[in-house]
Amino acid sequence: MDKNSFETALALDANDPLAQYRDQFVIRDPELIYLDGNSLGRMPKAAALLGRDLIEKQWADRLIRGWGEGWMDMPGRIGDKIAGLLGANPGEVLLADSTSVNLYKLASAALAFQTGRSKVISDNLNFPSDIYILGSVIGQAGKNFQLEVVPSEDDIHGPEEAIIQALGQDTALLTLSLTTFKSGFTYDLARLTEAAHAAGALILWDLSHSAGVIPMSLAAAHVDLAVGCTYKYLNGGPGAPAFLYVRKDLQDRLSNPIAGWMGQQNMFDFDLDYQPAEDLRRMLTGTPAILSGSLIEPGVEMLIEAGIEEIRKKSVLMTDYFIQLAQTFLVPLGYSINSPSPLDVDVRGSHVSLGHAEGLRIDKALIDEYKIIPDFRAPDNIRFGFAPLYTTYVEVYKTILALKEIVEAEVFLRYSQTKPTVT
Ligand SMILES: Cc1ncc(COP(=O)(O)O)c(C=O)c1O
Repeated sequence: MDKNSFETALALDANDPLAQYRDQFVIRDPELIYLDGNSLGRMPKAAALLGRDLIEKQWADRLIRGWGEGWMDMPGRIGDKIAGLLGANPGEVLLADSTSVNLYKLASAALAFQTGRSKVISDNLNFPSDIYILGSVIGQAGKNFQLEVVPSEDDIHGPEEAIIQALGQDTALLTLSLTTFKSGFTYDLARLTEAAHAAGALILWDLSHSAGVIPMSLAAAHVDLAVGCTYKYLNGGPGAPAFLYVRKDLQDRLSNPIAGWMGQQNMFDFDLDYQPAEDLRRMLTGTPAILSGSLIEPGVEMLIEAGIEEIRKKSVLMTDYFIQLAQTFLVPLGYSINSPSPLDVDVRGSHVSLGHAEGLRIDKALIDEYKIIPDFRAPDNIRFGFAPLYTTYVEVYKTILALKEIVEAEVFLRYSQTKPTVT
């Protein structure tokens, strides 16, 4: 069969061992091709049902009694399930706050712990919020601290060797996105963690674009700290609380910089003297967001059932397929592949960026005329997220044909170059 034919896409779907999961998501418009599950995952049908139960029964009927009937345990209960996807142990992951706030908490705690060390290392592929947060943390930690942002040579691959070179006796913390948000480059978690430890530094991973799609073992790699979003591949819903991970043996040695009553050892004693909980609960601050937090559970359970290894297999096959079709049909039209190539499969996440001088207008045409939703990341990246539980190979194929037509027939000329508020 011609590997560039529509029949090949149909055959890949027919042989997809995860195909049955698509039906477990709410899909109102079957013609909409949704390639933004790396930014906001689709809604699981089970989350829609749970949402009704939360509003009509748990909140309306049970009122304050709900706290003793599962709400109080929610951050740890769902945290333990997420731990299963990250290769962490029970009691090492909690739902709390947003990714940015969790990064602030864990990075501040790490700097306070690392006395006598003054450097924080990251890279220029990291999500901007992470770099802003590190700036605040360092600003508050005092003049002696500095941030070193190691640049990538091609803006696609993480500067792994240069980071290892930069680590030294003065490094307090290395913090990186495991999968970078633009190119999808994915670091070697075990290698970088080991290099940080060899220099005496702590490591803090941002797992936002990796959780639920990249197999990993935080336990085997002995990772110190991690944070991540739940609204991407975990399908937790818009603005759902994030997760944080602290390795067991570090938990009673790190202090929460925003101490609050939810992290107090015996919170219902209402003692004015703060005594942090001995376990990870000390990293909580205020009342957990029960409605949005609870809705994360069905998506996580589905990922566990499908199996992270099977999910990764499809993600690799699908991103390979997309890149191979893009090389054949799109590169001759001026598109570039701004993500690791097929040969670099080990360092690729589950999203792929295509560059084009008319990227923004092509993105607008895709959404407006072809019902295809990717997103756009400046300066010229059209970013396509492949969520193995619901993206089909036929959708991938149709997207390539649309991208081809938009340039060949100059469809993009119908769109302005003005950037919309949300891209
Ligand atoms: C890699 C990464 N880190 C951090 C964030 C910020 O997350 P939040 O808005 O939940 O703080 C995002 C948001 O998309 C992200 O992609």
